[in-house]
Amino acid sequence: MKHPLIAGNWKMFKTIPETVNLINIIKAGVHKITDCDIVVCPAFTTLAAVSKEIEDTKIELGAQNMHYETEGAFTGEISPLMLKDVRCRYVILGHSERRQHFKETDELINKKVMAALKYNLVPILCVGETLEEREARHAFEVVKQQFDRCLKNLKAEEVARVVIAYEPVWAIGTGKTATPEQAEQMHSYIRRLLNEQFGEEVGEKVYILYGGSVKPDNIAQLMAKPNVDGALVGGASIKAESFIQIVSNASSKEAANAPNR
Ligand code: PGA
Repeated sequence: MKHPLIAGNWKMFKTIPETVNLINIIKAGVHKITDCDIVVCPAFTTLAAVSKEIEDTKIELGAQNMHYETEGAFTGEISPLMLKDVRCRYVILGHSERRQHFKETDELINKKVMAALKYNLVPILCVGETLEEREARHAFEVVKQQFDRCLKNLKAEEVARVVIAYEPVWAIGTGKTATPEQAEQMHSYIRRLLNEQFGEEVGEKVYILYGGSVKPDNIAQLMAKPNVDGALVGGASIKAESFIQIVSNASSKEAANAPNR
């Protein structure tokens, strides 16, 4: 049985002292919760500090991006090897903010996913449609194209190690969450793509997270859906109390739903 997976994307927020403060409050707030996998993804400059603080806990560390090469003349970039060095286990790839502001393409993201797997990092691959695309009824087509291109040339056993985050762009940082039904529709579609292309064993194994204005008061309804395995949380993850509440609400829902999965 899968535990819910709750990942916090701290984006470009917090200095080292602020980060240490945040992680310590989170640590204290979640230490009794054993049935939820927790990942925090701080900014690069604070990864080492957070890594040290969570050494003796079950909280895992993730980065928000990386380059696909091991090393080289790529000024300003961070490699998978460097993420391993600070004990990252996860890396967010293809976040819509990277696609939008830094022009990341599916082809580039595909290279990054392959590099992450090579270094035993778990890619949290983000997919999702814009409001325009949803209104034009292209949401499923857009997500399928991102899915196909970002997972291109991957073997089934590699895909089994990927986490997919469905993040409708119109729901990110807007306060507009997808309804649990909208999320479930897309999650079950992604599950079907996984089953069809990589086999049911892989489909069952892969975590599909929902992201976009997740809050303490909507996580339980989202988690109640059979294909929602967890959440990628932005804004609400950098406020200790709301992140703790999200983790706690997600794990109690898991217990209530246990017979369904
Ligand atoms: P949000 O961000 O929770 O602030 O909407 C989610 C994300 O960007 O991963």
